[in-house]
Amino acid sequence: MMGIARFSDQWIEQVRSAVDILEVIGRRVELRQTGKNYVGLCPFHSEKTPSFTVNPEKQFYHCFGCGRGGNVFNFVMAAENLSFPEAVVKLAQEKGIPVPELSPRDQRREQEREQLRQINQMAARYFYRNLRSPAGAQAQAYLDSRGISKELARDFFLGYALDAWDGLVAFLQSQGVDLKAAQAAGLVTQGKNGPIDRFRARLMFPICDHLGRFVGFGGRSLTDAHPKYLNTGQTAVFNKGQILYGLNWSKEEIKALDQVIIVEGYTDLISLFAAGQRNVVASLGTAFTSAHAHLLKRFCSQAVIAFDGDTAGQRAAWRGMEVLHAAGLQVRVASLPAGQDPDTFARSRGAEGVAAWLDRAQPFREYQIDRIISQHDVETREGKLAASTELVTLLAQLTSAVERDEYVRYAAERLGVREESLAAEVQQQLGIPRVSRVQNRRNVRSEAKRRVVPRLRLAAGEELREREVLRYLLQKPDLLKVVQQRGVTAEDFQHPEYRRVFISLSESVSDEQGTAVASRLLSLPAPAASWDECFTSFLADLKRRRLRKIEEKLSLLENDRKGFDVRMELYRLLKEYYGIHRDS
Ligand code: CTP
Ligand code: MN
Repeated sequence: MMGIARFSDQWIEQVRSAVDILEVIGRRVELRQTGKNYVGLCPFHSEKTPSFTVNPEKQFYHCFGCGRGGNVFNFVMAAENLSFPEAVVKLAQEKGIPVPELSPRDQRREQEREQLRQINQMAARYFYRNLRSPAGAQAQAYLDSRGISKELARDFFLGYALDAWDGLVAFLQSQGVDLKAAQAAGLVTQGKNGPIDRFRARLMFPICDHLGRFVGFGGRSLTDAHPKYLNTGQTAVFNKGQILYGLNWSKEEIKALDQVIIVEGYTDLISLFAAGQRNVVASLGTAFTSAHAHLLKRFCSQAVIAFDGDTAGQRAAWRGMEVLHAAGLQVRVASLPAGQDPDTFARSRGAEGVAAWLDRAQPFREYQIDRIISQHDVETREGKLAASTELVTLLAQLTSAVERDEYVRYAAERLGVREESLAAEVQQQLGIPRVSRVQNRRNVRSEAKRRVVPRLRLAAGEELREREVLRYLLQKPDLLKVVQQRGVTAEDFQHPEYRRVFISLSESVSDEQGTAVASRLLSLPAPAASWDECFTSFLADLKRRRLRKIEEKLSLLENDRKGFDVRMELYRLLKEYYGIHRDS
């Protein structure tokens, strides 16, 4: 992996100014000029009317359909699944700009890493041949017994580490490989009488990085002797938290389907491939990390978690969902009965069974709710209460109000309680001040004919941030200037009570209700986050809302484009849009 500090800002800027975003994007997208902008069909989502906009003046692109956007580097990263340094190097090379040499130290490190990968590759070839030699007969019989065909074993480059102390050691020596380097690659360890093989009498699964370079191994015991699997430990090229088994084989399919299936084990992946599912990666039984999630995000936007049906698998799945969701992927869960894993399931049910099972994958929030309920005996009052307490905690974490309402309804139905009761508890946990009773009654009366009392649709997180910013303002009135300098006005507070408090603060007028709200705010426990953190998130909310408002106007204009006025308005809005985008 390349170090972040590999290129100077200056050089990156040189590349940026040498390339023209119109030219780069124009090679992939057919663009049509409208005023100062260019529009075309978005390459990142499917659409019939163009909402993908390129602004050559600002060197930005933005899609009003899917929300993706950025500068020329972001475009190349997204369009070609490259990391940032890879994208910059690619554009530099196209423009004939010399790529800075690595520093001697970085160069040496990169050479060392390359050497470790080479040794891993030699070892993979050696194990591969062993499996197909007479000495590999027992391992071959084991594969047969598990239903792994010769073709599959070849596709995944499976091999065998001999039942000997120095099989690989002798081979590497005969090839003139430095055993110190083999040790650094995790293949050789120090025995009493010198270096010995680390993997012995094991079926070998070579592990590649997403570029297909050999970086490590998983070795399975043929007899279930402990440990069942022995894996390469941490080395300069192998870090379990960053590698996903199989991605080198599945990435094209993942991209084509915009979806990845995540399993735990080597054999799960192989059996799913055999059942026709080729968009799979395996997390190698470790905790799913956010590095894993971000790696996957480069290839697709949807993930299906298909972990083992045992408790450990379900616990790992839960963590995985949160990590994937936090990275911005849409997450579903394909669950299995206890005692099954995707490997046994695929082998017993075949391709059709697998397809049907994956089709039934549930949105992960639904899965979480079901799982909480299944862990309690909700036929008893105690069980129901305990389940509802856990559910309230889960539901209160949902940051979108729409999503929260949706799942409150789902959970209430599943649990067999009234939706209103569960909703009330969630609101209470969020600490949302209820609309005062008088006001509430007035609403009910004036809208007596309507069944639904209009409810405040404000995401819980947003509300919390408004509240925390206000609390700081109440404690340190000096901060008001800072807030006003950033162009914040009363209008920017969504919550009507908070808006009132802000007005009385900024105009130094006291009104009774404002004072009441203010004193209630001050009596709450202090915010957990610092002022800077609170204010930064508050501004981020603000920016998001402002952009969304412009997007709404733009889409209205799009349905009504005639005449010059519209064009001018469109231009004005785009200018404002990019303005907000930039100064953040
Ligand atoms: N694993 C490991 N070390 C172990 C056990 C498991 O590294 N001692 C990792 C392996 O990558 C394994 C994955 O966790 O593939 C899932 O573990 P498990 O479900 O126990 O293994 P299976 O893949 O089901 O293996 P098999 O079908 O060969 O029993
Ligand atoms: Mn398993």
